[in-house]
Amino acid sequence: MILLSAGGGADESNDDTLRIYLSLRPMTTNHSSLRLARPEPGSAGKFYIETYGCQMNQNDSEVVAAVLQADGFAHTASLDEADVVLINTCAIRDNAEQRIWGRLAEFRGLKRRRPGLLVGIIGCMAERLKDRLIEQEQTVDLVVGPDGYRSLPALVRQAAGGAKAVNVLLSREETYAEIAPVRLDRNGVTAFVSIMRGCNNMCSYCVVPYTRGVERSRDTETILAEVRDLFERGYREVTLLGQNVNSYRYGEVNFARLLARVAEVSPLLRVRFATSHPKDLSDELIETIAAWPNICRAIHLPAQSGSSRMLELMNRKYTREWYLGRIEAIRRRLPECSISTDLIAGFCTETPEDHAATLSLMREVGYEFAYMFKYSERPGTKAQRTMRDDVPEAVKTARLTEIINLQNELSLAANRRDVGRHFEVLIEGTSKRSADEVYGRTSQNKVVILPKMNYLPGDYVHVLITDCSSATLIGTPLC
Ligand code: 5AD
Ligand code: SF4
Repeated sequence: MILLSAGGGADESNDDTLRIYLSLRPMTTNHSSLRLARPEPGSAGKFYIETYGCQMNQNDSEVVAAVLQADGFAHTASLDEADVVLINTCAIRDNAEQRIWGRLAEFRGLKRRRPGLLVGIIGCMAERLKDRLIEQEQTVDLVVGPDGYRSLPALVRQAAGGAKAVNVLLSREETYAEIAPVRLDRNGVTAFVSIMRGCNNMCSYCVVPYTRGVERSRDTETILAEVRDLFERGYREVTLLGQNVNSYRYGEVNFARLLARVAEVSPLLRVRFATSHPKDLSDELIETIAAWPNICRAIHLPAQSGSSRMLELMNRKYTREWYLGRIEAIRRRLPECSISTDLIAGFCTETPEDHAATLSLMREVGYEFAYMFKYSERPGTKAQRTMRDDVPEAVKTARLTEIINLQNELSLAANRRDVGRHFEVLIEGTSKRSADEVYGRTSQNKVVILPKMNYLPGDYVHVLITDCSSATLIGTPLC
């Protein structure tokens, strides 16, 4: 059962909600004094949160946790203990959504056994499918889009009264700027920091501008305050996040300047960022990375396709040649930088020649790593409205398999080149393979396994790479 918080949500002026409040909360203290007090942790009930999708979503779950905790809810990692279950969803491909429908079906059974349990769908799929979720899904009590998280405590109270609670309004301003995310399930060493939200790029295949709204950048000072606080609490790596991180601009501060200011917090703090759009990868940004040894030598630069014809149809605003020019600029100035990418197989009208161009781009760049996908048509996007999803599923699968096989070769070749080299590794935790080993990452974002010795998470260790697979490096400490 949900015990309603005394935190003073806006909805308490609403008659229905007040009634719920009175009926659920054991009233042992004076009502008005409770409203002024900060709610006791857990006094409002426990929430459990499951996160799907990108790093932005993981960080959003941490913002959600902060909002709920400030209102007296306590986080639980156990579904059995939860009063409220939140599913932070992804809408980017159909299979992401299918997984969530499957999960909802499981919650249907759970709700039958625990009728007081509240189930909330939050995030991108909530934004995209609000009507269907509200009208057809008996299991769902709450539907909240990516810009509605501040209203979650109030909405949980509303749902506890039996009324479905919805907030899918997109905002032009919301950046959750001053909210300090509660780091869920993190290792105490690496943390995500959102610096902007939304996207204005309108790639023709992509649903993100519709689910996350227009681009807006977060106040620079709040970002720096969050980073300093993380560093003081022992964190040694931050990843600055945004759908299109390098188009950040807050007043006079562009992304390159922000990056330098974050790097300035401490030479012991590593700085990463994701995801960059090639069109915004400026020379100034490359120079800034070169100037700061603690800005990681790893750039994720989604190409999507190696065919200029496909890139035009995708509305990516660059050609293959222009993209390769950016890669050359990185290689020239940052020879030790790893480059990774996202690729889509089987976009509308893709021919065998277009596909071959993607494979040849992969070889030419020699990506260290890639996220690879089959094109999935998304309702409402430009591609869905104006193009035909005409590459047969079997062809998409075959092309994706070729792309994955090639990437495995390239990753293995890149890792083999690292054998015999030295790297500084930031230790993140104990290896899953063995309690006698720890794992960490190089500046290039490669995972290294090494003997545990006395290393603790947060330590920097100089390591000689002795062996590798396509996914991992094996190392030994240099004394
Ligand atoms: N189908 C397949 N992949 C997609 N991506 C985005 N939209 C789609 C889609 N409709 C991929 C892109 C993007 C990554 C986050 O997801 O490669 O960079
Ligand atoms: Fe998925 Fe995109 Fe939403 Fe992230 S922003 S959760 S990738 S749809």
